[in-house]
Amino acid sequence: MATRAALAFCVCFVLLLALYHRQSLISLHEQLDVWEDKEQVGTLKTLLQKAEMHHDGKRTVIFTSVNAAWAEPGSLLEIFLESFKLLKNRTQEDLLKHLIILAFDNKAYERCVDVHPLCYQVMTEGVDFTSAKPYMSHDYVQMMWRRIEFLNNILGMGYSFVFSDADIIWLRNPFPHLLPTKDFQITTDRFNGNPNSHDNAPNGGYTFARSNKRTIEFYKFWYKSRLTYRSKHDQDVFIEIRHNRTMEDIGVNVGYLDTKLFSSFCSFWVYDMNVTVTIHANCCNGLNNKIRNLKILLSDWKEFYVTNQSVKSWKQPYGCTLGPS
Ligand SMILES: *[C@@H]1O[C@H](CO)[C@@H](O)[C@H](O)[C@H]1NC(C)=O
Ligand SMILES: *[C@@H]1O[C@H](CO)[C@@H](O)[C@H](O)[C@H]1NC(C)=O
Ligand SMILES: *[C@@H]1O[C@H](CO)[C@@H](O)[C@H](O)[C@H]1NC(C)=O
Ligand SMILES: *[C@@H]1O[C@H](CO)[C@@H](O)[C@H](O)[C@H]1NC(C)=O
Repeated sequence: MATRAALAFCVCFVLLLALYHRQSLISLHEQLDVWEDKEQVGTLKTLLQKAEMHHDGKRTVIFTSVNAAWAEPGSLLEIFLESFKLLKNRTQEDLLKHLIILAFDNKAYERCVDVHPLCYQVMTEGVDFTSAKPYMSHDYVQMMWRRIEFLNNILGMGYSFVFSDADIIWLRNPFPHLLPTKDFQITTDRFNGNPNSHDNAPNGGYTFARSNKRTIEFYKFWYKSRLTYRSKHDQDVFIEIRHNRTMEDIGVNVGYLDTKLFSSFCSFWVYDMNVTVTIHANCCNGLNNKIRNLKILLSDWKEFYVTNQSVKSWKQPYGCTLGPS
């Protein structure tokens, strides 16, 4: 008798589980339908297939995002792409093949297709993202949230990703340096030595997410939490929710990346030409400041490996008004 009850219970449980799974798939598709129109979804799928690589057995792509100001000739996108070309010249690793550039307005999209084969325009109704947006202006915050939502959809489509702001130069292939077991990884402005510690100061300009049901739920929760913490942008809301019970319920495994590898102007004293993987021009407000300093770094870097590592140090960033962006 007891066995039959147990069996019935089991069958019921499995059915419920199947139903739950189906429900979550349905809601994901609904979400996609609302935000990416049908034609766009087709374009996106094609781009993802062209760009995909395999990392830890998962289909994986690289994203960056630009608006018109960042995509202009001589601006950040150009420097970003040049760093990938240098990387290829040095190591033969052509990560550009796996990079999809997200354009947040028409002008950025037009410029993107001139310089890169894999461009996608992210539509956002009623917002103009064309000009450089002051850090934390209304449009800036909107753009950040649209990005989180878009990346949530990407995870739902079964793709893992590295997302990198375009004011970052890539010196080495990051994939061998990502944390092996963490679902979601984020860079830090200051690293306290412990990749598990929620006391690290996170920087959302560079993230890695493995596509699985935990990261899909986590991104959904993150996106939803914008309504709880109105007027905060994604990074600050992440700081609010990382201790939230819901994160434990979801079971998402968060890892913080070491500034020695994934570096930034916020911690320029730890750059090491022998090991640094990426450098982010944050703690440096103003587009021209970022451009000037990244160009200097890139030429130091070029000299370092062209002259067979005889240049031993980086020049420090200068003229930056320190700030969080
Ligand atoms: C990479 O190498 C090629 C061929 O040697 C060269 O033409 C090109 O300028 C180099 N790219 C960069 C960004 O240095
Ligand atoms: C957890 O997050 C939810 C949704 O954002 C929020 O309503 C709730 O107040 C948070 N709980 C705590 C303890 O911060
Ligand atoms: C970088 O590597 C080179 C060659 O292995 C070595 O000579 C140099 O001391 C290293 N530099 C630092 C800062 O560790
Ligand atoms: C670079 O340095 C290494 C060791 O110091 C040497 O074996 C190698 O030939 C050098 N390469 C070039 C291109 O000078």
